[in-house]
Amino acid sequence: MGTRGRLVVVANRLPVHRSGGSDRWEISPGGLVTALEPVLRARGGAWVGWSGTPGRAPRPFVLDGIDIRPVSMSDNELKLTYHGMSNATLWPLYHDAIRTPEFSGAWWSEYVRVNQRFAEKAAACAKPGDLVWIHDFHLQLVPAMLRALRPELRIGFFLHIPFPPEELFAWLPWRREILEGMLGADVVGFQTRSDARKFATAARRFAGTRSSGSTLRHGARCIIADAFPISIDFKAFDALGRDPIVRQRATLIRERLDPARKIILCVDRLDYTKGIDHRLRVYERMLRGGAVSADDSVLVQVAVPTRDKVAEYATQRATVEGLVGAINGEFTRLARVPVHYFSRSLRHRELAAYYLAADAMLVTPLRDGMNLVAKEFVATRSDLGGVLVLSEFAGASQELRGAIMVNPRDEDRTVEAVVGAIRMTDAERRRRMSRMRSAVRRHDVFNWSDTFLGALAP
Ligand code: ADP
Ligand code: F6P
Repeated sequence: MGTRGRLVVVANRLPVHRSGGSDRWEISPGGLVTALEPVLRARGGAWVGWSGTPGRAPRPFVLDGIDIRPVSMSDNELKLTYHGMSNATLWPLYHDAIRTPEFSGAWWSEYVRVNQRFAEKAAACAKPGDLVWIHDFHLQLVPAMLRALRPELRIGFFLHIPFPPEELFAWLPWRREILEGMLGADVVGFQTRSDARKFATAARRFAGTRSSGSTLRHGARCIIADAFPISIDFKAFDALGRDPIVRQRATLIRERLDPARKIILCVDRLDYTKGIDHRLRVYERMLRGGAVSADDSVLVQVAVPTRDKVAEYATQRATVEGLVGAINGEFTRLARVPVHYFSRSLRHRELAAYYLAADAMLVTPLRDGMNLVAKEFVATRSDLGGVLVLSEFAGASQELRGAIMVNPRDEDRTVEAVVGAIRMTDAERRRRMSRMRSAVRRHDVFNWSDTFLGALAP
């Protein structure tokens, strides 16, 4: 990676939060921050983003050597851009239109205005020679807007979610504008090769771009559009899995749930893309068909509520909670509840203890850009225990070949896959886990950021 210039990150959210209601800021734990913090420290840099609270932005400040540049967002702007254009138009459209996207001219106009604000903030803080790395679907117009303000900068853009197939992208009334926005970058990164190919196809059809492999020609400029699959801090999760206190906690979890029961674990944001309802129906079928009972199995679903102001999320929560209630109502035996449902976020160490305690981990989204939970589970299991059942519609399926792959809409075969997972022989389980661990170890989050920045650096 080139060492000249700093790194300026532009993302919807800042990597900081106020600690325990006080005025003190703390770095928030999370994949992107973990990946970029060492780079930001080594070469210096800034992070432009929203603080997470509506209203006037806090003043810029420096935290752990990172220049924090908050962008303001009023209640109304949040409603129109974050809840509206980002989470009720782009999110469902880019996830195979699992829910019908809504199209609103008012949301779009506000999205343009807010993207312009982010671009201006980035332009004001980037110094000559800096690399600017813009993230995700909330900010797809920022690359071209920033280029118009600062044509000399090297600009990268990474889309964390899938890019849709041409037929779906075509629905978007502002498809050309979105493409022109992303094509303002020098490097446009995607989670998978298939996403990068879909982008090139859309750019050819709707923006008159020419392409050859991963190189696109747009007007006089050349752009790289390629796959840069995101990952996790393998060493950190591996260490958690070996930590005696975390292991003790995992043993306690198994004892509390009853060591005679197979633990089937699921960890997600409560998003309709994650297939939580399909997977609950799979478990219900297993119970009804007698493949398992509440005496010999338990499904633990940890689901963090998310984006609750968007109507589809409230509906999904009601569906999931209705299913949990119905399954438990029908199949509970004395002191044996089949579905343990946590509607909250767990701290890292606690999450790792659940990963360690699990016999099978179900990661079965209907569509997912990558899915880091799957990689975290694998990295934690240095004991080579646990089987991963993984949706072929998660980006992670391209790398985690040792998983049992499923089509989550095919509930019959998913039943077979889960039963196969909890009955798998030791030897096969170890072989599969070992293969997946090598893949995540080789390709961790530091490798991800190095590769992207290597492609971006002049
Ligand atoms: P997404 O980006 O769609 O939320 P990912 O699986 O890629 O999905 O990333 C989710 C991140 O959030 C992971 O780092 C995971 O550990 C964390 N996470 C998800 N659910 C929970 C939970 N219930 N408690 C704590 N962390 C969670
Ligand atoms: O995966 C896309 C993503 O926007 C992540 O970047 C983010 O961590 C996650 O979804 C949660 O989204 P939100 O910021 O809307 O809570």
